Amino acid sequence: MNVIVTGANRGIGREISSRMLQEGHNVWACVRESDGEWLREMQSFCRRDGQWIRPVVWSGLTDRDSVRHAAGEITGSGFAVDGLVNNAGVTSTSTYMMTSMEEMKNVFEVNLFGTLLFTQYIAKKMIRQKNGGGKIVNIASVRGIKPEAGNISYGTSKAALIYATKVLAIELADYNIKVNAVAPGMIPTDINASKSEKLKDRIMEETALRRFGEQKDVANAVLWLLHFSNVSGQVICVDGGYV
Ligand SMILES: NC(=O)c1ccc[n+]([C@@H]2O[C@H](COP(=O)([O-])OP(=O)(O)OC[C@H]3O[C@@H](n4cnc5c(N)ncnc54)[C@H](OP(=O)(O)O)[C@@H]3O)[C@@H](O)[C@H]2O)c1
Repeated sequence: MNVIVTGANRGIGREISSRMLQEGHNVWACVRESDGEWLREMQSFCRRDGQWIRPVVWSGLTDRDSVRHAAGEITGSGFAVDGLVNNAGVTSTSTYMMTSMEEMKNVFEVNLFGTLLFTQYIAKKMIRQKNGGGKIVNIASVRGIKPEAGNISYGTSKAALIYATKVLAIELADYNIKVNAVAPGMIPTDINASKSEKLKDRIMEETALRRFGEQKDVANAVLWLLHFSNVSGQVICVDGGYV
């Protein structure tokens, strides 16, 4: 399988990429910077001759030319694109009354608009492929389902991404493209660095299994969706029972 992972340099995206490589798949890793150490480590996960990880360096999802260029690099490579994992994302924590529309736009530019634009280019390629079909997995968040004060920008962007996932699942079904989302709960990565211990304790209290997830839990769900064929338009919550 040849799979694209955005935000593959750290956190959940790095875990998904390394797992794909360990399972013998090829990965286009969309990153804003291709660090030599990261690339060497990723290459060490390759386990068969001819297997590859190709860094696709872009200036990011907010730069439309760069998104088009990155998509062109992938779609023009001569390889089939079997999967796309839209993992890259940003957060923002402020209450509604303290949130500027500029801040909201910035979050939406990455989590929704840039992601949907990139997906459009890649879906076109999937549609035109000889054998057709493909799998798209959007990394959403439980915040797009369960609201919380202080998450207006992030939560609404992820809720919109979940809605988009379902619309794409319907519209792209004719082309045998399956579109699903994984909605993680709290996973210890850089994105949560600024969360207070008090907030983490409260989220833990509300989590049935009384544990935060690990990056590998999210990767497991993504890999499952990439492998299985009769699932589309679903949101898999990997949140320890944050209901
Ligand atoms: N960790 C959690 O608790 C949690 C929970 C629910 C959902 N999620 C979602 O999981 C995904 C991965 O998050 P993470 O926890 O792994 O966070 P992370 O460690 O902060 O990683 C975020 C990734 O997104 C990339 N990125 C950020 N802004 C970008 C932009 N404008 N263009 C392109 N790439 C950009 C980052 O690249 P750089 O290194 O270049 O900045 C990085 O690779 C996100 O969509 C996040 O919303 C995470």
